[in-house]
Amino acid sequence: MRIGLFDSGVGGFTVLKKVIELCPNSSFIYLADTARLPYGLKTTDEIFQIAEEISFWFSKQNIDAFLVACNTTNAIALDLLKKNLDVPVFDLIGSVASTIQESRVGVMATPSTVRTKAYTNAILEFKPRTFVIEQPCPEFVPMIEMDKINSEDLTNVAIGYLQPLLNQKIDTLILGCSHYPLITPLITKILPSSVKLVDPAEALSLKLKLFIDSKMSNFSKKKFLIDSKFYATSDHKYFSLKAKQWLNLFPEVNLVSLQKKGCVS
Ligand code: DGL
Repeated sequence: MRIGLFDSGVGGFTVLKKVIELCPNSSFIYLADTARLPYGLKTTDEIFQIAEEISFWFSKQNIDAFLVACNTTNAIALDLLKKNLDVPVFDLIGSVASTIQESRVGVMATPSTVRTKAYTNAILEFKPRTFVIEQPCPEFVPMIEMDKINSEDLTNVAIGYLQPLLNQKIDTLILGCSHYPLITPLITKILPSSVKLVDPAEALSLKLKLFIDSKMSNFSKKKFLIDSKFYATSDHKYFSLKAKQWLNLFPEVNLVSLQKKGCVS
Protein backbone atom coordinates (compact mmCIF):
# COMPACT_ATOMS: atom_id res chain seq x y z
CA MET A 1 0.00 0.00 0.00
CA ARG A 2 1.27 3.45 -0.94
CA ILE A 3 0.62 6.17 1.63
CA GLY A 4 0.98 9.90 1.07
CA LEU A 5 1.72 12.33 3.90
CA PHE A 6 2.90 15.90 4.20
CA ASP A 7 4.01 18.56 6.62
CA SER A 8 5.67 21.96 6.40
CA GLY A 9 9.02 20.38 7.32
CA VAL A 10 10.41 17.74 9.66
CA GLY A 11 7.30 17.56 11.86
CA GLY A 12 5.72 14.84 9.75
CA PHE A 13 8.71 12.60 10.51
CA THR A 14 7.22 12.02 13.98
CA VAL A 15 4.08 10.70 12.29
CA LEU A 16 6.02 8.71 9.71
CA LYS A 17 8.10 7.07 12.46
CA LYS A 18 5.02 5.86 14.35
CA VAL A 19 3.38 4.68 11.16
CA ILE A 20 6.47 2.75 10.02
CA GLU A 21 6.51 0.96 13.40
CA LEU A 22 2.92 -0.23 12.99
CA CYS A 23 2.72 -0.56 9.22
CA PRO A 24 6.20 -1.65 8.08
CA ASN A 25 5.01 -3.12 4.80
CA SER A 26 3.73 0.12 3.36
CA SER A 27 5.63 2.54 1.19
CA PHE A 28 5.38 6.28 1.64
CA ILE A 29 5.44 9.51 -0.28
CA TYR A 30 6.53 12.28 2.07
CA LEU A 31 6.14 15.89 1.01
CA ALA A 32 7.76 18.69 3.03
CA ASP A 33 6.60 22.16 2.04
CA THR A 34 9.81 23.71 3.34
CA ALA A 35 9.48 26.77 1.09
CA ARG A 36 6.47 27.93 3.13
CA LEU A 37 7.54 26.91 6.61
CA PRO A 38 6.22 27.65 9.23
CA TYR A 39 2.54 27.04 8.56
CA GLY A 40 1.58 27.85 12.13
CA LEU A 41 1.72 31.62 11.65
CA LYS A 42 -0.24 31.67 8.40
CA THR A 43 -3.76 32.95 7.81
CA THR A 44 -6.71 30.68 7.18
CA ASP A 45 -6.75 31.68 3.50
CA GLU A 46 -3.07 30.86 3.10
CA ILE A 47 -3.59 27.40 4.61
CA PHE A 48 -6.56 26.79 2.29
CA GLN A 49 -4.36 27.69 -0.69
CA ILE A 50 -1.63 25.34 0.55
CA ALA A 51 -4.13 22.53 1.11
CA GLU A 52 -5.50 23.07 -2.39
CA GLU A 53 -2.03 22.77 -3.97
CA ILE A 54 -0.95 19.84 -1.82
CA SER A 55 -4.07 17.82 -2.53
CA PHE A 56 -3.76 18.57 -6.25
CA TRP A 57 -0.15 17.32 -6.21
CA PHE A 58 -1.04 14.17 -4.25
CA SER A 59 -3.99 13.46 -6.52
CA LYS A 60 -1.37 12.72 -9.23
CA GLN A 61 0.76 10.43 -7.06
CA ASN A 62 -1.25 7.25 -7.21
CA ILE A 63 -1.62 6.82 -3.44
CA ASP A 64 -3.95 4.42 -1.61
CA ALA A 65 -4.35 6.47 1.57
CA PHE A 66 -3.43 9.95 2.79
CA LEU A 67 -2.24 11.13 6.20
CA VAL A 68 -2.57 14.72 7.34
CA ALA A 69 0.68 14.84 9.30
CA CYS A 70 0.28 18.56 9.97
CA ASN A 71 -2.11 19.72 12.68
CA THR A 72 -2.40 23.26 11.31
CA THR A 73 -3.73 22.08 7.95
CA ASN A 74 -5.77 19.44 9.78
CA ALA A 75 -7.43 22.12 11.94
CA ILE A 76 -8.19 24.48 9.07
CA ALA A 77 -8.56 22.55 5.83
CA LEU A 78 -9.40 18.90 6.55
CA ASP A 79 -12.70 19.04 4.65
CA LEU A 80 -10.98 20.53 1.61
CA LEU A 81 -8.31 17.80 1.61
CA LYS A 82 -11.00 15.12 1.88
CA LYS A 83 -12.99 16.68 -0.93
CA ASN A 84 -9.99 16.85 -3.27
CA LEU A 85 -8.57 13.39 -2.65
CA ASP A 86 -10.43 10.26 -3.60
CA VAL A 87 -8.59 7.99 -1.13
CA PRO A 88 -9.21 7.52 2.61
CA VAL A 89 -7.82 10.46 4.60
CA PHE A 90 -6.52 9.95 8.17
CA ASP A 91 -6.07 12.96 10.44
CA LEU A 92 -4.38 13.60 13.76
CA ILE A 93 -7.02 15.67 15.58
CA GLY A 94 -9.99 13.42 14.80
CA SER A 95 -7.96 10.28 15.57
CA VAL A 96 -6.77 11.39 18.99
CA ALA A 97 -9.92 13.21 20.19
CA SER A 98 -11.93 10.01 20.62
CA THR A 99 -9.19 8.40 22.73
CA ILE A 100 -9.00 11.07 25.45
CA GLN A 101 -10.30 9.76 28.77
CA GLU A 102 -8.95 12.36 31.17
CA SER A 103 -10.82 15.43 32.38
CA ARG A 104 -8.35 18.34 32.29
CA VAL A 105 -6.59 18.47 28.96
CA GLY A 106 -3.90 20.89 27.83
CA VAL A 107 -3.05 21.26 24.15
CA MET A 108 0.15 22.82 22.83
CA ALA A 109 -0.19 23.82 19.17
CA THR A 110 0.67 26.46 16.59
CA PRO A 111 -1.16 29.82 16.79
CA SER A 112 -3.10 28.98 13.61
CA THR A 113 -4.30 25.68 15.09
CA VAL A 114 -5.25 27.24 18.43
CA ARG A 115 -7.21 29.97 16.62
CA THR A 116 -9.60 27.36 15.21
CA LYS A 117 -10.25 25.65 18.58
CA ALA A 118 -10.30 22.42 16.55
CA TYR A 119 -8.85 20.38 19.42
CA THR A 120 -11.34 21.74 21.96
CA ASN A 121 -14.28 21.14 19.64
CA ALA A 122 -13.18 17.64 18.66
CA ILE A 123 -12.60 16.53 22.27
CA LEU A 124 -15.88 18.04 23.52
CA GLU A 125 -17.74 16.18 20.82
CA PHE A 126 -16.68 12.90 22.45
CA LYS A 127 -16.51 14.04 26.11
CA PRO A 128 -18.57 17.18 26.57
CA ARG A 129 -17.56 17.74 30.20
CA THR A 130 -13.81 17.80 29.57
CA PHE A 131 -11.93 20.98 30.45
CA VAL A 132 -9.64 21.85 27.51
CA ILE A 133 -7.08 24.64 27.45
CA GLU A 134 -5.05 25.40 24.31
CA GLN A 135 -1.66 27.11 24.38
CA PRO A 136 -0.18 28.70 21.23
CA CYS A 137 3.57 28.01 20.91
CA PRO A 138 4.76 30.28 18.06
CA GLU A 139 8.48 29.87 18.69
CA PHE A 140 8.70 26.08 18.83
CA VAL A 141 8.62 25.23 15.10
CA PRO A 142 11.20 27.83 13.96
CA MET A 143 13.53 26.78 16.79
CA ILE A 144 13.11 23.06 16.07
CA GLU A 145 13.70 23.58 12.35
CA MET A 146 16.82 25.63 13.17
CA ASP A 147 18.04 22.77 15.31
CA LYS A 148 18.03 24.65 18.59
CA ILE A 149 16.75 21.54 20.32
CA ASN A 150 19.19 21.54 23.19
CA SER A 151 19.46 25.26 23.72
CA GLU A 152 18.73 27.07 26.96
CA ASP A 153 16.54 29.43 24.94
CA LEU A 154 14.24 26.58 23.94
CA THR A 155 14.03 25.36 27.54
CA ASN A 156 12.98 28.83 28.71
CA VAL A 157 10.44 29.15 25.91
CA ALA A 158 9.00 25.72 26.81
CA ILE A 159 8.71 26.61 30.50
CA GLY A 160 6.86 29.78 29.51
CA TYR A 161 4.38 27.86 27.33
CA LEU A 162 3.79 25.08 29.84
CA GLN A 163 3.23 27.28 32.89
CA PRO A 164 -0.30 28.50 32.01
CA LEU A 165 -1.32 24.86 31.38
CA LEU A 166 0.17 23.63 34.65
CA ASN A 167 -1.55 26.50 36.49
CA GLN A 168 -4.82 24.99 35.27
CA LYS A 169 -3.87 21.62 36.79
CA ILE A 170 -4.04 19.65 33.56
CA ASP A 171 -3.84 15.86 33.82
CA THR A 172 -3.07 15.35 30.10
CA LEU A 173 -0.94 17.23 27.60
CA ILE A 174 -1.55 16.76 23.87
CA LEU A 175 1.32 17.63 21.53
CA GLY A 176 -0.91 19.32 18.96
CA CYS A 177 1.80 20.03 16.39
CA SER A 178 3.70 17.21 14.72
CA HIS A 179 7.02 19.01 15.31
CA TYR A 180 6.64 18.89 19.10
CA PRO A 181 7.31 15.16 19.67
CA LEU A 182 10.85 15.97 18.47
CA ILE A 183 11.33 17.79 21.78
CA THR A 184 9.62 15.22 23.98
CA PRO A 185 12.73 14.80 26.20
CA LEU A 186 12.69 18.52 26.98
CA ILE A 187 8.94 18.63 27.65
CA THR A 188 9.10 15.53 29.85
CA LYS A 189 11.78 17.17 31.96
CA ILE A 190 9.51 20.12 32.74
CA LEU A 191 6.21 18.23 32.98
CA PRO A 192 5.22 16.65 36.33
CA SER A 193 5.15 12.84 35.98
CA SER A 194 1.45 12.85 36.92
CA VAL A 195 0.59 14.52 33.59
CA LYS A 196 0.06 12.09 30.71
CA LEU A 197 1.78 13.09 27.48
CA VAL A 198 -0.16 12.30 24.29
CA ASP A 199 1.24 12.22 20.75
CA PRO A 200 -1.75 12.16 18.32
CA ALA A 201 0.37 10.19 15.83
CA GLU A 202 -0.19 7.08 17.96
CA ALA A 203 -3.98 7.21 17.54
CA LEU A 204 -3.60 7.98 13.83
CA SER A 205 -1.25 5.06 13.19
CA LEU A 206 -3.54 2.65 15.03
CA LYS A 207 -6.44 3.72 12.82
CA LEU A 208 -4.28 3.38 9.73
CA LYS A 209 -3.12 -0.07 10.78
CA LEU A 210 -6.72 -1.27 11.14
CA PHE A 211 -7.45 0.07 7.67
CA ILE A 212 -4.36 -1.55 6.15
CA ASP A 213 -5.04 -4.89 7.85
CA SER A 214 -8.55 -4.89 6.41
CA LYS A 215 -7.26 -4.19 2.88
CA MET A 216 -3.82 -5.72 2.79
CA SER A 217 -4.74 -8.83 0.90
CA ASN A 218 -5.64 -6.56 -2.03
CA PHE A 219 -2.26 -4.88 -2.08
CA SER A 220 1.12 -6.31 -2.79
CA LYS A 221 3.51 -6.04 0.15
CA LYS A 222 6.22 -3.52 -0.54
CA LYS A 223 9.45 -2.78 1.20
CA PHE A 224 9.48 0.67 2.78
CA LEU A 225 13.09 1.62 2.12
CA ILE A 226 13.06 0.69 -1.53
CA ASP A 227 9.77 2.20 -2.61
CA SER A 228 9.32 5.29 -0.45
CA LYS A 229 9.93 8.73 -1.90
CA PHE A 230 10.68 12.09 -0.33
CA TYR A 231 10.00 15.54 -1.78
CA ALA A 232 10.63 19.09 -0.55
CA THR A 233 9.63 22.45 -1.98
CA SER A 234 13.05 24.03 -1.18
CA ASP A 235 16.48 23.06 0.25
CA HIS A 236 15.97 19.44 -0.73
CA LYS A 237 19.59 18.42 -0.09
CA TYR A 238 19.48 19.86 3.40
CA PHE A 239 16.19 18.07 3.97
CA SER A 240 17.89 14.79 3.20
CA LEU A 241 20.28 15.45 6.10
CA LYS A 242 17.28 16.09 8.31
CA ALA A 243 15.86 12.69 7.40
CA LYS A 244 19.15 11.17 8.46
CA GLN A 245 19.04 13.07 11.76
CA TRP A 246 15.46 12.25 12.70
CA LEU A 247 14.65 9.01 10.89
CA ASN A 248 18.06 7.48 10.45
CA LEU A 249 17.38 7.25 6.73
CA PHE A 250 19.37 8.99 4.05
CA PRO A 251 16.90 9.27 1.19
CA GLU A 252 17.31 11.13 -2.01
CA VAL A 253 14.95 14.11 -1.66
CA ASN A 254 13.46 15.50 -4.87
CA LEU A 255 12.75 19.17 -5.36
CA VAL A 256 9.12 19.81 -6.27
CA SER A 257 7.05 22.82 -7.19
CA LEU A 258 3.44 22.80 -6.01
CA GLN A 259 2.19 25.47 -8.36
CA LYS A 260 -0.31 23.71 -10.59
CA LYS A 261 1.37 24.72 -13.87
CA GLY A 262 4.88 23.66 -12.97
CA CYS A 263 3.95 20.55 -11.01
CA VAL A 264 6.99 18.27 -11.17
CA SER A 265 7.04 14.76 -9.81
N1 DGL B 1 3.97 20.46 12.00
C1 DGL B 1 2.84 21.23 11.58
C2 DGL B 1 1.74 21.16 12.58
O1 DGL B 1 1.53 20.07 13.09
C3 DGL B 1 3.18 22.60 11.02
C4 DGL B 1 3.94 23.50 11.94
C5 DGL B 1 4.41 24.77 11.27
O2 DGL B 1 4.89 24.73 10.15
O3 DGL B 1 4.25 25.83 11.90
O4 DGL B 1 1.02 22.09 12.84
